[in-house]
Amino acid sequence: MAARASAKLTARLAPGETLGDRVLRVDHAGEHGAVCVYRAQRRLARWTAPDLLSEIDEYIAHEMRHRALFAAELARRGQPRCLSYPVCATLGTLLGTLTGLLGRHAISATTVAIERVVLRHMAQQIAALSASDPAAVLILTDILAEEQEHHDRSAAHLPGGHFQKLLDTGVAAATEAVIWIGMRR
Ligand SMILES: [Fe+2]
Ligand SMILES: [Fe+2]
Repeated sequence: MAARASAKLTARLAPGETLGDRVLRVDHAGEHGAVCVYRAQRRLARWTAPDLLSEIDEYIAHEMRHRALFAAELARRGQPRCLSYPVCATLGTLLGTLTGLLGRHAISATTVAIERVVLRHMAQQIAALSASDPAAVLILTDILAEEQEHHDRSAAHLPGGHFQKLLDTGVAAATEAVIWIGMRR
């Protein structure tokens, strides 16, 4: 395993793995986590936030498209899934179930916290890979606008307050931790 750093992006790489490969694997797992969050939220939002159902459906369709883009590129490169893939699924389903139960503000606060972290990491990834991996950058750039849209639409639903701040801090820290582990495991 070789540690490699590029434009503030550090990773512990397996033999024969590039930084772009690792980013694709970690982001693929993250998109799967996002699909699981939204699917779990959707199951409960039927009762706790029915007015958000169509928005959640759109988010699920977007996250499935993102996951498929990363999966296709990983397959093209002969790279396996990240070891964090099932972890993202479990944590995503747990987080989606808990926040789905808590209702509309918890659902939107979760999206805002996750997407804020994701957007920052994706900007770092694009900067780090711009010279070395145009194929990865193309996918990241394609996805970025939809992640920004999720963030902005959900942020518009939020009234602010202590509970929202607490949830935001917890979800952002959990998202950071999953990405950190994926890049260094
Ligand atoms: Fe996504
Ligand atoms: Fe998203």
